[in-house]
Amino acid sequence: MTIRASLIAAATLLGALTLPALHAAEPDNHSPDIPEAVRPMMEDPELAQSDFIEQCAGCHGVRGSTVPAHLPEIKDRVGWFMCTPESRAYLLRLPNVAHSRLTDNHQLADLMNYVVFVLGGKSAPAGTKPFTAEEVAHERQFALTSVSLKAERLRLANDAIHKCRAPASLRLQYPGSAQ
Ligand code: HEC
Repeated sequence: MTIRASLIAAATLLGALTLPALHAAEPDNHSPDIPEAVRPMMEDPELAQSDFIEQCAGCHGVRGSTVPAHLPEIKDRVGWFMCTPESRAYLLRLPNVAHSRLTDNHQLADLMNYVVFVLGGKSAPAGTKPFTAEEVAHERQFALTSVSLKAERLRLANDAIHKCRAPASLRLQYPGSAQ
């Protein structure tokens, strides 16, 4: 075999070995479709989706899931935090939410309704009302700090588990995490 031929053979073999592995690890990097049933929860669903992509998806992923990275999982579980007035407020007091550069509270309410009702899937308790601009304007004044956040989250997750039948894994930042 010439050097060239053996290089091609080696490259082909390498390709055959690595391609399936790469394919398996390929992230699902498309935003989810916005279900018709939840469109009325937002004034402008498309803007809410693009605001999430710009401001949040860099950390949380376009679908609200970052497995295997160690960040709280939003997908199919964030809605449990709509269980009590306090745990709703927690979502609006999160540092990255309260300090968002969106100054228009209607727009931020839309973004958070996208997070809860689209990315959260069916996790919001039945009958949950969407966030309003007034609620956002009020709660964002009380931004949590990273010091207060962890204990507050655990307390509210326990409430959702006891009052709204959230799964026990809600105590964890993501199912299977060590904390
Ligand atoms: C720089 C990375 C980063 C960005 C940007 C970011 N977050 Fe987060 N988010 C985190 C981290 C880290 C946590 C865990 C709590 C903490 O340490 O603040 C978190 C926690 C959360 C939680 C709580 C989940 C739970 O189970 O308690 C929600 C909801 C959330 N973020 C939504 C958002 C939204 C909405 C945006 C955009 C406005 C956003 N985040 C932007 C990193 C980020």
